[in-house]
Amino acid sequence: MFSKDGNSKDVKTPRICDVVWHNGEFIKWNDARVHVMSHVLHYGSSVFEGIRCYSTKRGPAVFRLREHIQRFLNSAKIYRMDHEWTLDQLCDASVEIARRGEMDQCYIRPILFRSLDEEHPAFGVNPFPNPLACYIGSWDWGKYLGDEAIENGVDVCVSSWNRMTPNSLPAMAKSGANYMNSQLIKMEAIMNGFSEGIALDDRGYVSEGSGENIFMVSGDTVLTPPLSSSILPGITRDSVIQICEQLGISIKERTIQRAALYLADELFFSGTAAEVTPIRSVDHIKVGAGGRGPITKRIQQTFFEITKGERQAPGPWLTYINEQKQDTSDNNGFSAEAEPVMTFQTASLD
Ligand SMILES: Cc1ncc(COP(=O)(O)O)c(C=O)c1O
Repeated sequence: MFSKDGNSKDVKTPRICDVVWHNGEFIKWNDARVHVMSHVLHYGSSVFEGIRCYSTKRGPAVFRLREHIQRFLNSAKIYRMDHEWTLDQLCDASVEIARRGEMDQCYIRPILFRSLDEEHPAFGVNPFPNPLACYIGSWDWGKYLGDEAIENGVDVCVSSWNRMTPNSLPAMAKSGANYMNSQLIKMEAIMNGFSEGIALDDRGYVSEGSGENIFMVSGDTVLTPPLSSSILPGITRDSVIQICEQLGISIKERTIQRAALYLADELFFSGTAAEVTPIRSVDHIKVGAGGRGPITKRIQQTFFEITKGERQAPGPWLTYINEQKQDTSDNNGFSAEAEPVMTFQTASLD
């Protein structure tokens, strides 16, 4: 999808919801505006989420809503954003925006940021004097790495840019500022004719893509970098881990060297936007046979069956927006009010 002139292309966006949730109310899309002197524009002070709502036979269903909103709250906590919103309120608002968009499927984007108090403006780096604003928007978003990528895979490079160190900008928080690093990775990849870039961490181990986690298949084992490799604790990553466990596929968190990418039998990205996307080459070196490998295909198919509501998920992963409750028909004993279940939210496996 992306080429050297990729800057003129973007992911297909067929529709946008014409209302936006703002601090508890729904406002018109055109009224969702901020002052140009807002703290966030100058100092990157935002945290956000990206959530997909899938088309199913029971109507649209939001995928792992509570886990996403929990990560949103975690990101806000890390950045000392002392807001008033609860997990339940933000989940309800996300469901409501998906409903109001009247789309079969959509992408939901909650964002919390430091804005500007126009009566008492504050322009310094210190974020505390600036009021917080919370918005949730929604649109229909196509395949992030292109329509063909899901089947054929993507060509990627290892980026010359490293991921941030854990004590510089925490990758564990999904903050707007982290995406300046992602933009450097993405632009370099596009300019060199690749779809995506893989960043290494500050020690030289594989971290993640600019907007995706990465998995490697070696023999019959699936490996993925641990949180200590400066990755976002991806919710799709967690889903892939749980799917592997359900399918009886061996899955391990391991630090991965760059050269191991070249020798992998299969590689794939995971992410809300990218879903499960195979990688067919890295730095022009073919991965395995150079297409979607059999284990990737099995995991990908299972993931899509779950998101379509056609297969039992390992937990209550779908919130059917027209039924307004999470699917609790699993046997795991979780109720609709259960806390979000993430296998590795803040700590690594080992
Ligand atoms: C840097 C980065 N890593 C990983 C991911 C995947 O996370 P998730 O599966 O929760 O979307 C994303 C996407 O949100 C991302 O931006």
